[in-house]
Amino acid sequence: MLMRLFVAVTLEQELKEYLEGRQKAMRDYCRRGNFSRPENLHLTVKFLGEVEREKLSAIKQAMDEGAGAIQPFQLQLGDWGYFSRGSKKILWVGLQGETGKLLELFRSTETALAKRGFPKESRPLKAHITMAREAELTQEWEKVVNSLPLEPRPVPVTGITLMESTRINGVLTYKPLYRSQLG
Ligand code: 2AM
Repeated sequence: MLMRLFVAVTLEQELKEYLEGRQKAMRDYCRRGNFSRPENLHLTVKFLGEVEREKLSAIKQAMDEGAGAIQPFQLQLGDWGYFSRGSKKILWVGLQGETGKLLELFRSTETALAKRGFPKESRPLKAHITMAREAELTQEWEKVVNSLPLEPRPVPVTGITLMESTRINGVLTYKPLYRSQLG
């Protein structure tokens, strides 16, 4: 059986609520947009894609190995950014702070996974929290982001979580399956 999996840094409830507020404010500047459900907001470290269930134990081992090599660290919310998708945008919030540590965490996790047969990512890591997909803005990007400042709220990184992406009654749901502590 195939499972759609990714490894993520999960966000604290209070931060998700703050970001939900920012999503609501962003809606006013969107003609349309598919906003992430607040409980789904996360920071992806490594996307695994469709994986056989039998590989779960190897993934957990790799996560322990990758996370164990890095000490806990702290990020902060950064600025709004986007990826263009034709005339639409994927809207996200970037991260600042100890981003070098995040890159180390990504590399150590990816290396531990690669030893167990999972391919390395060809694209560089662009750390982001996806806020909305298929978004169409009503105003210029600069105007929108200047109207929607983000507080540099702390994002403590103390572990990584294996998430399963599923649809429950048609609703995209991320189910935590396993957590590895840093350090
Ligand atoms: P996104 O937030 O930019 O869409 C679950 O789908 C998580 O894995 C999301 O955070 C998503 O990133 C990421 N993801 C989905 N497909 C991916 C891919 N092909 N490569 C890298 N990350 C991916």
